[in-house]
Amino acid sequence: MTDKNFYVTTAIYYVNEKLHLGHVYEFVLADTLARYHRLLGENVFFLTGTDEHGQKVERAALSCGKKPQKYVDYMSGEVVKLLEYFHISNDDFLRTTQKRHKKIVQKFFEILLEKGDIYKGKYKGWYCVFEENFLTEFQLIDGKCPECGRDVEIVEEENYFFKLSKYLDKVLEHIEKNLDFVIPETRRNEVVSLIKQGLKDVSISRTTFEWGVSLTFDKKHVSYVWVDALLNYISALGALTGGEKFKIFWPADYHIIGKDIIKFHAIIWPALLMSAGIELPKTVAAHGFLLKGEEKLSKSKGIVLDPYEIAGRYGVDPVRYFLLKEIVFGNDGTYTDELMVNRFNSDLSNDIGNLVSRVLVMVKKYFGEEIPEKDKPHELDLQLQKSWEVCLDDYLKNMSDLKFRKSLVSIWSFVASANWYVDKTEPWFLEKKGNISKLKTVIYNLCEGLRLLAIVTYPIMPVDMEKLWVQLGIKEKISSCKIPQDLKWGLLKPGTKIGKIYPLFPRIEKQKL
Ligand code: ME8
Ligand code: MG
Repeated sequence: MTDKNFYVTTAIYYVNEKLHLGHVYEFVLADTLARYHRLLGENVFFLTGTDEHGQKVERAALSCGKKPQKYVDYMSGEVVKLLEYFHISNDDFLRTTQKRHKKIVQKFFEILLEKGDIYKGKYKGWYCVFEENFLTEFQLIDGKCPECGRDVEIVEEENYFFKLSKYLDKVLEHIEKNLDFVIPETRRNEVVSLIKQGLKDVSISRTTFEWGVSLTFDKKHVSYVWVDALLNYISALGALTGGEKFKIFWPADYHIIGKDIIKFHAIIWPALLMSAGIELPKTVAAHGFLLKGEEKLSKSKGIVLDPYEIAGRYGVDPVRYFLLKEIVFGNDGTYTDELMVNRFNSDLSNDIGNLVSRVLVMVKKYFGEEIPEKDKPHELDLQLQKSWEVCLDDYLKNMSDLKFRKSLVSIWSFVASANWYVDKTEPWFLEKKGNISKLKTVIYNLCEGLRLLAIVTYPIMPVDMEKLWVQLGIKEKISSCKIPQDLKWGLLKPGTKIGKIYPLFPRIEKQKL
């Protein structure tokens, strides 16, 4: 263990409908980062959860004839199941309807009131219930919500307003001074220009419905759902109430969110925190959107990507792999079955799957299932080792920066080296010629390559790499490996008895689809 703490969060998910593969993309990003930092020996806290209040959720409950609480209990349970299904290793799951959260929301409002940063007023203007967003006339596109394209509603009610304008200069200064505060750069620029256009004070409470956290000092009001939601990042740690976790983990290292909610995270959230005198998170990292082909996912238009259906067809870890390999962090990405099958067959089945079975079958055939001892290395052996060292450098550089695609590219270039090494050394001839000491070295090196591959790929495909690990016969758990210590070439113990061999990623025949 190092003494470094690492706190990563995802957005919390609305429970008005079931989650799709775009949401899965987000929590797979966060999970990969969390697993990687655990391998680094850091003390990791990974938070996700559900956003259960507000008009959108209330209406969804009513439309299926359920009481909101009953409805959110069920829907939030569905999110938990989905996380488990996708091997998500979150340390906590926060629901905004939990007592531990609500009391902190109330406390937070009391602090803003005391600070003199909120005042009562009348809001009259547009509101998009789907995005839970107040909109100005100027923002509408053809009279509709600029984000989701849905109809907007006129809202006229008493609200508390937060003095956002008081903090804008400070927020801007923070963003411009700390280039890591908003990534990628395109999003930072977007946020900077939004602030420079000038923003008004924002409503932070509502009075025309009840499904929210009521304010202690004015019971008619419930918290605006976005303030309620943002506070999850600190309420889960027990902020404002002496929580130990808050002392350990705040400020967050990463808020992983989608590009559509950058304004809330990079402008409103820091302003609220400044007002309450709380440190700002280190990085707000905004990913792009997952599209189906060229189209935006939309349940009402029937453009859907059902995570269970897709992972049921290709496996959970291959889908995790696909999302991280196919999408450049920050950009939009595309899912189609064809892309998925191609990736699966080429990267997983051909490159890794074949390598694993080739190597393990040779261990079994030539050495009675025991990993042999290596002899002194020759030119090709040194080249393989060198290729590993190059791959590792790139991998370490990119993983911490959320450049998962690049990390995978470098891992796969090592996989290509290993396949090249098999072809060059031709172990089957070494055996025929009775060159056993060279054969031992080659097979040892290949097994060592597989051990290293399993560790570096583990944050992305945890369950399948654990399976590879078991096939290699290594007794310690893969999750207890440490980076970079265990990534040194040559640590595999000769004499290890390999496990049962079976194909890891059997090829998908296209006609079967
Ligand atoms: O916005 N591709 O919740 P949400 C990638 N409750 N990511 C996507 C996506 C897609 N097609 N569609 C949605 C909310 N997302 C609020 C958040 S946080 C304090 C409150 C992402 O359920 C989206 O960008 O609408 C967001 O980060 C997350 O899924 C939850 O979206
Ligand atoms: Mg949304």
